[in-house]
Amino acid sequence: MKISPFFVKKKFGKNHIFSIMPHQSVLLFDITLEIPYICASMSAKTVHIKSFGCQMNKLDTALVTSALRQGGFGLVDDEKEADVVLINTCSVRGHAEEKVLSHLGNLKHIKESRPELVVGVIGCMAQRLGAELLGHEAVDVVCGPAQIPQITSLVTEALQEKKKTLAVTRKIRQKADEEETQTLEDFESVFDSDDKQIPNQAFVRAMRGCNNFCTYCIVPYVRGPEVSRPPNAIIEQIKRLAGEGVKLVTLLGQTVNSYKYTAGEKTYCLADLLQMASEVEGIEWLRFVTNYPLEEFFDEIIQAMADLPKVCNFLHMPTQSGSDRILKAMNRNYTVRYYMELLDRARATVPGIAIAGDFIVGFPGETEEDFQATVELVKKVRYKNCFVFKYSPRPGTTAENRLEDDVSEKIKKKRNTELLGVQEKISDELSKEFLNKDVLVLVEGLSKKPHLNKAENKNNPQLVGRTATDWIVVFNGPESLAGEFATVKITKTAPLTLFGELL
Ligand code: 5AD
Ligand code: SF4
Repeated sequence: MKISPFFVKKKFGKNHIFSIMPHQSVLLFDITLEIPYICASMSAKTVHIKSFGCQMNKLDTALVTSALRQGGFGLVDDEKEADVVLINTCSVRGHAEEKVLSHLGNLKHIKESRPELVVGVIGCMAQRLGAELLGHEAVDVVCGPAQIPQITSLVTEALQEKKKTLAVTRKIRQKADEEETQTLEDFESVFDSDDKQIPNQAFVRAMRGCNNFCTYCIVPYVRGPEVSRPPNAIIEQIKRLAGEGVKLVTLLGQTVNSYKYTAGEKTYCLADLLQMASEVEGIEWLRFVTNYPLEEFFDEIIQAMADLPKVCNFLHMPTQSGSDRILKAMNRNYTVRYYMELLDRARATVPGIAIAGDFIVGFPGETEEDFQATVELVKKVRYKNCFVFKYSPRPGTTAENRLEDDVSEKIKKKRNTELLGVQEKISDELSKEFLNKDVLVLVEGLSKKPHLNKAENKNNPQLVGRTATDWIVVFNGPESLAGEFATVKITKTAPLTLFGELL
């Protein structure tokens, strides 16, 4: 087990180191004394982490998992075996929050028979609800996205002292001070790579927060203002990850294409980051998500995609609606025409680029005509795939404050199904273009039913991977291919999945 200097420095000051002993007990030494003196000892506790939400949350979960593991905690898959249950939460739609609240209800019952169980809520919901969430009978720790560097000490204190703790940002729209930004930076760089959720793939944050204030969206209120990370810190991280075998890095940001960092005379944009990351030996593919339809830097980014072979020809650019009237009410600051022009430019510069989109159906005031405009847009663009969401009013957002949620659940559902159906037909047509072609995939691992798989087909189970353009490919092969590139001949297709044989 590695010693975590970050944890020790934060919790006990820099004069301590600690060591994990047999039976998972932790010994803490004060190194200023001549003979190392055991100044604390605790039995390693176990943690179970549940994660909801977007890639940002997945990255935060990976960081928290690494930090806890290095802090001496054991990670367990079974919640029943855990001394600590952490839930990393999402606030983007009401449904995601309801799932967490219902889970907290179950945990409350478990705590009746196991009062020593510590329950922590981290992430967007922790920031949004703060003290209210701490009032929940099951909850001991509430920790916002900017406070995750404190997670090990918060959990340790909760275990030892049995008191409730709240760690959230008080004024979320205020720019964080230098110390807090530096703490997040240190945390990110120390714990970046210990918990790769998919072999040889890693997320790297390019920026935090969002300044756009789309009227439906909670993100600016829970993740704070936009902050781009220093390019050298990002590149150092990518180099370290490459040294550990990472082949695909996905740069993350709520609006990653607005990445902007000024150092001395030079202002770096996402295209510069892609160029610098491309030069890192060992990195084979680079992706970036997610994008806002924005003119600034767009041509540079698309040109970087065309010029740099490592940058995958894939663009996720949420659209939200095909009606200018609704886009205006959403405060999206662009029109359908503007959006289409950006995509035309992308397609002219990067032939074969795969485009994905997000849509919200049933936004307040959305008429059938508005919705049909969205259907038309989807047909025109011919996305590789689309994510479609039913509008969910989020407390404190402009839409929730000022607009009535006047599209019924029934109509939202109907529009959701219709739009997905239109997209499915397009995805199906696009997938057929791959028939009998050879594609290069980065293998993620066993496909969804690994146990069934392995039992049925021990040395040649069903694997899943993705092409550079983000198509999911399912084929049989040795499990050892996980994290490696493979060439697959496509023999069968479905709307979102290609099936084939390993070459
Ligand atoms: N209701 C429904 N969908 C939403 N999204 C963001 N906020 C809401 C909301 N209040 C969707 C957008 C965004 C994706 C991450 O989630 O489509 O792109
Ligand atoms: Fe939310 Fe809009 Fe920011 Fe995306 S760009 S995170 S939808 S406010």
